[in-house]
Amino acid sequence: MDDQISRRNFLRGVGVSAIAGAAAKARAAAQSVESFDDQKPLGPEPVELVLEINGSSRAIEVEPRVTLLDVLRDRFQLTGTKEVCDRATCGACTVLVNGQPTYACMKLAVEMPGQQITTIEGIGSPDNLTPLQRAFIECDAMMCGYCTPGFIMSLTALFRSSPNPTLTEIKKACSAISAGAEVMLTSSGQQREQRTPEKKEFEEFRGRAE
Ligand code: FES
Repeated sequence: MDDQISRRNFLRGVGVSAIAGAAAKARAAAQSVESFDDQKPLGPEPVELVLEINGSSRAIEVEPRVTLLDVLRDRFQLTGTKEVCDRATCGACTVLVNGQPTYACMKLAVEMPGQQITTIEGIGSPDNLTPLQRAFIECDAMMCGYCTPGFIMSLTALFRSSPNPTLTEIKKACSAISAGAEVMLTSSGQQREQRTPEKKEFEEFRGRAE
């Protein structure tokens, strides 16, 4: 057998490559560990945080494992933000973080200092409802009501970024039923006659949902 491709040389070559690969991985792991060493570990003891919630600075001491949702509900009694699945599937816990809809159950409180957090309590009050909140009431769009704050927060973000959203954008912002679609179009300030070219799509959507 040609010496250059003998089994022994082949295995030797594989062995050298494997060792070189393992050494590279070991170096990368060591660098990674060194970079972790530069970070100050948090916990398990409570840590002091200042969170910006609904325009106010709120100080709190909390264990690093605690979610933003639990802090809002259990520590600050902002119970308008609802806990349902606690695993990023239902959207009932939606709040705005720097204006973006965010699942509060998927954020740790320790991640949030410096971020502007807005809950349902921060966008309106019983005496001063937003047009979107009024539209939900006028169109009786609450369903059981438990996820309504999530709808409102998600749609508030949409209407702030796009005052006249298309039905497609509305449907993307939340999975609407017919009453939900009606209230969303009403709250966007659109008259039924002015909805074209979306009117046809809206009526078709409504017909399917009923
Ligand atoms: S509680 Fe369902 S997504 Fe957070």
